[in-house]
Amino acid sequence: MKRLHILLFITYTLTPRTGFALSAEATEGKTLYPACHVCHNPEADPPAGPPMWGVQRRYKRSTIDDEDFIKSMVDFVKKPTLENARHDMAVKQMGLMPPLPLADEMLEKIAAYILEENFPPPCAHWSIAVKRANEKGDMKHAKKDQHMLERFCD
Ligand code: HEC
Repeated sequence: MKRLHILLFITYTLTPRTGFALSAEATEGKTLYPACHVCHNPEADPPAGPPMWGVQRRYKRSTIDDEDFIKSMVDFVKKPTLENARHDMAVKQMGLMPPLPLADEMLEKIAAYILEENFPPPCAHWSIAVKRANEKGDMKHAKKDQHMLERFCD
């Protein structure tokens, strides 16, 4: 009996907990997410949009709860404005996002997915950004993304 407990404990501790359950709403949103990934692909060089890892962080910090997160994101995607943009550096680098005329219901599902997903830190994006910023002599941007690389990537 004891041995079984030890074995279960070891199996439990060593099993990577990468899988976690998305809500039904977010699961549907995930199937629609490619509409965003085309631009928000963290591996694109040059990038056409900021990685969702950082967008999610900004929205989580600047909204009061899940409902506010989803509503604010849907409002922005339907009608991006400079006042509503929270990602100043991305706006400066890539210009304001074009509006996406998708149905509210679809955008709510996509936003629920973005809220719940455990995006990996966009290490490739930061490496690309550091290289590009250095080429342009934009030391402030290079330093910022170098810091992110050191903090979140090996
Ligand atoms: C045509 C390219 C493109 C597509 C498609 C696209 N985005 Fe974006 N998105 C951008 C760019 C560029 C930015 C950075 C500038 C900005 O913040 O407005 C951005 C920024 C954002 C932001 C952060 C806004 C801020 O500054 O606070 C959110 C949220 C966002 N996108 C959501 C989405 C969602 C959700 C989808 C899919 C339904 C999507 N985007 C599809 C280009 C795109």
